[in-house]
Amino acid sequence: MSTPIDLGRPVAGDVVDLILEDHRRFEGLLRTMRGPHADRESARRAFSALHVAHALTEEEHVYPVLRTKRAISEHDAEHGEEEHAEGNEALLGVLEIKGTDTQAYEDAVEKLTAAVSHHLAEEELSILTPARTNVTSRVRDNLGEAFCASRNKLIDDDCGTLEKVRRIVGRAERKGILDTD
Ligand SMILES: [Fe+2]
Ligand SMILES: [Fe+2]
Repeated sequence: MSTPIDLGRPVAGDVVDLILEDHRRFEGLLRTMRGPHADRESARRAFSALHVAHALTEEEHVYPVLRTKRAISEHDAEHGEEEHAEGNEALLGVLEIKGTDTQAYEDAVEKLTAAVSHHLAEEELSILTPARTNVTSRVRDNLGEAFCASRNKLIDDDCGTLEKVRRIVGRAERKGILDTD
């Protein structure tokens, strides 16, 4: 594993709870990334791996099932994907900066924090709340298992390196999800 920070390794549970646990991890890591006496570099690496793994897993495993079960609309899923792309773009901005003690780094982390906080609030409201009320607990448990397997595997595969995030952002640009300017 490329990061000394523990990202947890859940294996099962209600997918909504598991996603919320990761969201709180994001917030903690973002605090450490800008903390004055914190190991910013380790937090940056850990955040990157978790953000890539979490977002990709939601897009590939969670959103499609919630769509099929009519818990969320196509627009909700697409909007979530757009916000993931914006988060990854802001993440790339943080990863591109050498060192973690410059004003440029702190500005980039601030942008990332704004993008991610916005997405977490919106996803919790427009995707997780309907998932909790419109999908059976059996489906949420099955999704929980798939979520854990995919998320953990991506983290094991070191999915948040600068090179990989560059490729993910490039792909989003080509798909027209991100403005290319
Ligand atoms: Fe999420
Ligand atoms: Fe998300």
